[in-house]
Amino acid sequence: MAKVRTMFFCQSCGAQSAKWIGRCPSCGEWNTYVEEVIEKADATPAAGTWKPASTVPGGSTKRVAKPTRLAEIQHEDEPRILTPDAELNRVLGGGLVPGSIVLIGGEPGIGKSTLMLQIALALKQMKVLYVSGEESEAQIKMRAERLADGQHPGCYILTETSTQNIFRQIDQMQPNIVVIDSIQTMHSTLVESGAGSVSQVRECTAEFLKYAKETGVPVLLIGHITKDGAIAGPKILEHMVDTVLQFEGDRHLSYRILRTIKNRFGSTSELGIYEMQGTGLRQVSNPSEILLSQRAESLSGMAIGATLEGNRPLLVEVQALVTPATYGTPQRSSTGFDAKRLQMLLAVLEKRAGLRLGQHDVFLNIAGGLRLDDPALDAAVCAAVVSSLNDLPIAGDVCLAAEVGLSGEMRAVPRLEQRLAEAQKLGFREMYVSQFNGRNLAEQDRAGLRIQAVSRLDEVLQSLFG
Ligand code: TYD
Ligand code: MG
Repeated sequence: MAKVRTMFFCQSCGAQSAKWIGRCPSCGEWNTYVEEVIEKADATPAAGTWKPASTVPGGSTKRVAKPTRLAEIQHEDEPRILTPDAELNRVLGGGLVPGSIVLIGGEPGIGKSTLMLQIALALKQMKVLYVSGEESEAQIKMRAERLADGQHPGCYILTETSTQNIFRQIDQMQPNIVVIDSIQTMHSTLVESGAGSVSQVRECTAEFLKYAKETGVPVLLIGHITKDGAIAGPKILEHMVDTVLQFEGDRHLSYRILRTIKNRFGSTSELGIYEMQGTGLRQVSNPSEILLSQRAESLSGMAIGATLEGNRPLLVEVQALVTPATYGTPQRSSTGFDAKRLQMLLAVLEKRAGLRLGQHDVFLNIAGGLRLDDPALDAAVCAAVVSSLNDLPIAGDVCLAAEVGLSGEMRAVPRLEQRLAEAQKLGFREMYVSQFNGRNLAEQDRAGLRIQAVSRLDEVLQSLFG
């Protein structure tokens, strides 16, 4: 009988080694090597394994790649499959690319299965195969019934975890789109280690990848996330797929954000926003309105910042609470905004605007559970802190968009035009921006929105609080 071959794999980065090692030479993690069987004694590919014609020995379509001049390469514009979900189309960079493989990661219970089922049900013109290794048919049916639009005669459910069986069904059914929920529950008979192990995840992904590339059928893979937020399985998984999306949000809040981590067919700074309702996920096409909806005009410690996520302008509420410190070391705490950056802004306020914050606790929060890192929020953060410190509210129709430098200068921000347009659309009357954002900003006053082009932060504070 042939020998069973095993290898040791780093569970963190997927590196392999013939023997066990304590510390992974590739990623530096300790004690991550686990032995996995890579080849069964009788590893003949089972029937139903996806075998592209070009790899079959003697296959007629076998093609030898040759170098081609870039100028001579023919290409048509990738036709995209527009899903009925505008938010998903946006994060994918304008729709689903045929033959692409998309990985959607997220914490348990965040709504990955809901989102995928909803999309499967909404693709009315297509034959969709939804493969679930996690739930039973009845469970999926129940979920579909909860969804607002739970009817689609062309949506097929398959509860199966063996890739060989899945491909056998795919061969018969010829779907237009395949959803796999989730890649960690799949297993291939070519590899013997348990489902979810590095070699299984890699093998199964490779099989789906080959299938997608050969047939042009897009495959959507759901992936689990580990404790520290990375997609479970080797990092190599993220390299293999075309697009990695992350579905995130606070489980206690109803907003969910779909973020692009990697995209071979578009920008990675895109953002889709959903709201989890009793009837599934609802697309939020105008997020600023929701983010600002709970605003009471005359409260101190609030400032509106005009930020940009991807190509999308958002007006968000920055909330600060500044209170005298009760213990020796004052606390600084920040939710949704970089804590280091907050420290820096507080230092700038001390030094350049003469505020005494050393004896105060400072708490900062971005409303709506968003996590933002746009430096254009700096001015709004400073304004909110000062507003809370002095207990002086800022008028509700004022917003800010400028980075604050270490010398207390207001720095220009990219794509101000879009931020201005959004503020104007939402009925703001006044917007503070950096003078360096354009020479003749002040003259460009738009209907109803006054642009205050300022060069230093203390001028802004002077103008807001007197
Ligand atoms: P689910 O899609 O099962 O999450 P994942 O696949 O990421 O683990 O998420 C289900 C959660 O969403 C569950 O806690 C219930 C909630 N939910 C709703 O609030 N409304 C709905 O219509 C559905 C289907 C689920
Ligand atoms: Mg699920």
